[in-house]
Amino acid sequence: MHSNSILLGDLQHIHQTLGSRRQRFEGGTVLVTGCAGFLGYLFMNYLVHYAEELGIRKVIGLDTFLLERPRWLDDLHSKYSKVLTLQAFDISRDKLESIPDAAQARFVLHMASIASPMFYRKYPLETIDANIWGLRHLLDFYKGSKKLEGLLFFSSSEIYGDPDAAHIPTPEDYRGHVSCVGPRACYDESKRFGETLCQVFSETQGVPITVARPFNNYGPGMRLGDKRLPADLARFIFNQEDIVLYSDGSPMRTFCYISDAIAGYFLCLLHGKFDAFNIGVEKPEISVSKLAEIFAGAGRDVLGYSGEVRYAVSEDKHYLSHNPQRRCPVITKARTVLGYDPKILVDEGVHRYLQFLAEENAAHKGA
Ligand SMILES: NC(=O)c1ccc[n+]([C@@H]2O[C@H](COP(=O)([O-])OP(=O)(O)OC[C@H]3O[C@@H](n4cnc5c(N)ncnc54)[C@H](O)[C@@H]3O)[C@@H](O)[C@H]2O)c1
Repeated sequence: MHSNSILLGDLQHIHQTLGSRRQRFEGGTVLVTGCAGFLGYLFMNYLVHYAEELGIRKVIGLDTFLLERPRWLDDLHSKYSKVLTLQAFDISRDKLESIPDAAQARFVLHMASIASPMFYRKYPLETIDANIWGLRHLLDFYKGSKKLEGLLFFSSSEIYGDPDAAHIPTPEDYRGHVSCVGPRACYDESKRFGETLCQVFSETQGVPITVARPFNNYGPGMRLGDKRLPADLARFIFNQEDIVLYSDGSPMRTFCYISDAIAGYFLCLLHGKFDAFNIGVEKPEISVSKLAEIFAGAGRDVLGYSGEVRYAVSEDKHYLSHNPQRRCPVITKARTVLGYDPKILVDEGVHRYLQFLAEENAAHKGA
């Protein structure tokens, strides 16, 4: 077992949250697309670390490794090669028939799709393909499966676009205020169409598919070079540099710590029928400036950080284009239907993230 105390605590938190519902994994195979990404980190760690206790037969991890092939995943594979199959695989193009045991899957997590705006703008067609053709391949492959009990499509809070003030916080039945062209459209619109595909396959083919709409996750597993805000803030702190914000710091967000979010995604997966759920936290809704201050404060506590927060204009002219001004979910549906109950507020979560990174850093230096 991995010795990072934060990771171990996060895995236990997921395990306890699932409670008796985790019996559903007994004897099952789980297929995960996009397993090498940020969310993949905790999912894969949980599934293989607890495979024996859960009675999981096989975990199949697929990823193109478009941005990188992370060391943690190869380490997991060499430690848990009996239960974990890992394959370089493009879900938009490659044939699922070529993957031994794919047809046996009881649960499928479809996460393949780059989530960082800086990178999906660099790979817009790959992003569209993963969310549309990749999803379609999975749905065609699993329709009629007698084994499948749940397929979870990772949509996004971005399907809501930039809601007007009357729709903040945002419930699932808000239809969105989204541009179908522009620098973010490849992501937002392919997620929207992906949800349509899910609904049609559920209705016409009876596929047990659920949609999760993640709202701004952060924490262990997020690469420092990922170029999403929490990763940038952690990177400045690790490099002992001043934090530079490429906005006026006013956009408002809620930030959901990763172990709460992963527990929520598992609950969505186990739901096993069509519905869409916001997965995030409803409070506190804070500005980007406030998040930077929280990181700086946690950096002082955990790493003796001494930098300050500064403001600048990005050289990337689309850095802020169509960036929503506020993002805050209503999560009542996930609470009442799934029993989702996120616990970790942003101060604690940021401390955990930095502590996790500090322990990883120390372990690699010692290795
Ligand atoms: N992290 C969040 O806060 C957040 C918010 C909204 C939505 N989501 C969604 O959740 C999912 C996972 O998010 P993440 O943060 O882990 O993303 P990520 O960008 O860190 O990882 C995505 C992974 O998918 C892989 N991938 C891309 N195209 C692929 C393809 N065609 N075939 C196989 N693998 C492919 C990439 O190589 C990468 O490893 C994504 O679908 C994302 O859109 C996440």
